[in-house]
Amino acid sequence: MAPDLSVQIGSLTLPNPLIAASGCFGYGLEYEQVVDLSSLGGIVSKGLFMKERQGHAPPRIVETPAGMINAIGLQGIGVHRFVNEKLPLLRKAGARTFVNVCGTTLDEYVEVCKVLSDAEGVAAIELNISCPNIKEGGIQFGCSLNGTYDVVSAVREATTLPLIPKLTPNVTDVASFARAAEDAGADAVSLVNTFLAMAIDVETRRPKISNVLGGLSGPAIRPIAVRMVWECFQLVKIPIIGMGGITDARDTLEFMLAGATAVQIGTQNFVDPFVWSKVLDGLTDYMNRHQITKLSEVVGTFDPTPPKAVHA
Ligand SMILES: Cc1cc2nc3c(=O)[nH]c(=O)nc-3n(C[C@H](O)[C@H](O)[C@H](O)COP(=O)(O)O)c2cc1C
Repeated sequence: MAPDLSVQIGSLTLPNPLIAASGCFGYGLEYEQVVDLSSLGGIVSKGLFMKERQGHAPPRIVETPAGMINAIGLQGIGVHRFVNEKLPLLRKAGARTFVNVCGTTLDEYVEVCKVLSDAEGVAAIELNISCPNIKEGGIQFGCSLNGTYDVVSAVREATTLPLIPKLTPNVTDVASFARAAEDAGADAVSLVNTFLAMAIDVETRRPKISNVLGGLSGPAIRPIAVRMVWECFQLVKIPIIGMGGITDARDTLEFMLAGATAVQIGTQNFVDPFVWSKVLDGLTDYMNRHQITKLSEVVGTFDPTPPKAVHA
């Protein structure tokens, strides 16, 4: 029997757990020449506000050990252009499109989600309450339990689309934020967004990116993200979409064992845009080696029994 890689996120069935992370895959169409978009579990659009945004001045990214810092500042084409120009093509390509929604106010989140609810071809809303790179809105909701509850409740009333708040790791107890999102009616949560970070050019004594502060992503953050997924898995019942530094099938499985039903791959797209088929092959190989017929059975099966000590 062919291995079954499908996963369920609320009412959504995805053919496999691999989703392209917001901001690392453009609007999906940019990658059409290298990846069959319909072969992915889904894609998440770049973050969208109601209106177009320029983002921050360059330089906006810098490489760091095992990762990168970015402060793009949520440059984007706005929700109306996305619906008119991108969504029809994504539909045609067979992509399951998650839209990453931003807002400077609670009302803007609601309005953007209403526009998306009336559009054809949106699989789910990923509510970005976690971008560390903008001053107004966004993370201010995501860093307050009441703010998280309020914005998720307000959007929940405005849409029947699957609703997936994206949580910030820049808090002490991320699981309590997952619980607040669940209580407010979220269908799933995704985590983590980037970790607030900075890098200094010691020759000039100036910041390496124009915004001074940015968000750290890539393999450097993976162990922290895995820990956060596991903490959330123990507290909430809704599915978790895990991400942070995934580069291969092993990393994907680490997140799934910790409790993620699906995962997103972000920074690795800049290293290897062909990562997708390699991860899918690696997952199938793992299933064969471990006699697993349905991949979703591994979710949350991490065994915290300490490993055997290795003596020299
Ligand atoms: C250049 C860049 C742009 C990003 N833009 C967004 C965004 O628009 N919305 C969002 O929710 N996350 C955004 N992220 C965060 C990623 O979606 C992801 O949460 C984070 O990078 C961790 O995953 P990774 O280590 O696999 O990249 C961005 C990340 C990078 C590197």
